[in-house]
Amino acid sequence: MKKFLVLCLALMMSVVMAGCGGSSSGSSGGSGSGAPSKGVKIGVSMPTKSLQRWNQDGANMMSKLKEKGYDVDLQFAENKVESQVSQIENMITKGCKVIVVGAIDGGSLSSVLDEAKSAGVKVIAYDRLIMNTDAVNYYATFDNYGVGQIQGQYIEQKLGLKEGKGPFNLEIATGPMDDNNAVFFFKGAMDVLQPYVDKGQLVVRSGQVTREQCATPNWDEAKAQERMDNLLTTNYASAKLDAVLCSNDSVSLGVQSALKSAGYNTADKPMPVITGQDANLPNVKAIISGEQSMSVFKDTRALADQVVKMVDALLSGKEPEVNDTKTYNNGVKIVPSYLLKPQFVDKDNYKQLLIDSGYYKEADLQK
Ligand code: BGC
Repeated sequence: MKKFLVLCLALMMSVVMAGCGGSSSGSSGGSGSGAPSKGVKIGVSMPTKSLQRWNQDGANMMSKLKEKGYDVDLQFAENKVESQVSQIENMITKGCKVIVVGAIDGGSLSSVLDEAKSAGVKVIAYDRLIMNTDAVNYYATFDNYGVGQIQGQYIEQKLGLKEGKGPFNLEIATGPMDDNNAVFFFKGAMDVLQPYVDKGQLVVRSGQVTREQCATPNWDEAKAQERMDNLLTTNYASAKLDAVLCSNDSVSLGVQSALKSAGYNTADKPMPVITGQDANLPNVKAIISGEQSMSVFKDTRALADQVVKMVDALLSGKEPEVNDTKTYNNGVKIVPSYLLKPQFVDKDNYKQLLIDSGYYKEADLQK
C-alpha cells in the first residue's frame, strides 16, 4: 500500500511538472529529454508577419528547435524597429541563451546587442546581416549575390542577350536601402546586366539605374506598384517594356499590378520577362499563369536546419559550421557565415522543386 501511494505521488508530481514546462512559448518537454538543450531558452526575432516567407521561417525555427527540446520565444516585429529592439530586450531579460535575429534594419540593433553581449547571450543573424556591431557571432543566409546573378542570368537568357539580340527595354525594382541583402541582390544582377546596358542591348528608358533610384522602402508591394505606375506613364506611353528585374516577390507583385493596369498581359502586349525571389504562393501561381517569369527558391527549411545546428554547436561549446569567412563584413568585423544555395524556379521546374520536395501541396497552387 505504501509503495502504491509513493507511486501515485510520483505520477502526480510528473503530471504537475509537465504542465509547468511550456508557458506561452514553445518548450516540447519531450524528445530532448536528458539532452543539453532541454528547457534552454532560445529567442527568435523575425521582422514581420506581413510576408509569407517570414511566417514560414518562424514556424520552421519553432518546430525544429522544439524537436530538440529547446524552450522557444518566437516574436514578430511587424517591420517596426522599436518593437524588434524591445522584443530582443525582453528575450535577454527572460534568460535566452541564444537569440536568432532576422533584422528589420540591420543597422539599428547595435545597442540592444551590446546588452546581449554583456549578458553573455550569443547572437545569430538570420538571413539578413546585422551591421556595425561585434555582438553578432554568426550569420546564416543564402548566397545573396548568387540570388541576383540567377535573376540577371534569367533575363540574359530569355532575351537572348548573349547571342547579341536587342535593343530591349529594361526597368529595375529592388529592395530597401536598409537591407544589406539588397546590396548583394542588386550587385549580383547588375554584374550580369550592366554590360548589356553599356553596349545598348538593354535600354533603361527611365534612366533610373542606381540602387537608390530603384529602391522599394520595406519591400512594400504598394510602393513598388506606385513607382512602376509612374515609370510606365512617363516613359512607356509609346514604347513597350521587355523586362523588369525585380529583386523579390513582393516587389514583383506590385510591378505586375502596374503593368496589368497599363494594358499588359494581353495578346498584343504580353507581360515582360519579370523576376522575383522567395517562391511565395501568389508568385508561383503567377508563374503558372504566365504573369511572372521566374522566382528564386530559397528553401527556408534548410536555413532553419542550419541555424538550429549553429545553436546546438554554440551551446555545447563547439565551433558552428561555416562556409564563408570573407564576404560579410558588417563594418566592424567579418561575420563567419553559412551560405545556402538558391535555385531558380519557373514554369518548367516548379513541380519538381516545390511540390515533389513537399514545400507546397498541389492544392496550395490552385487559383
Ligand atoms: C530576404 C528576401 C525577402 C526580403 C523581403 C530579404 O532580406 O532575403 O528573401 O524577400 O527580405 O522580406
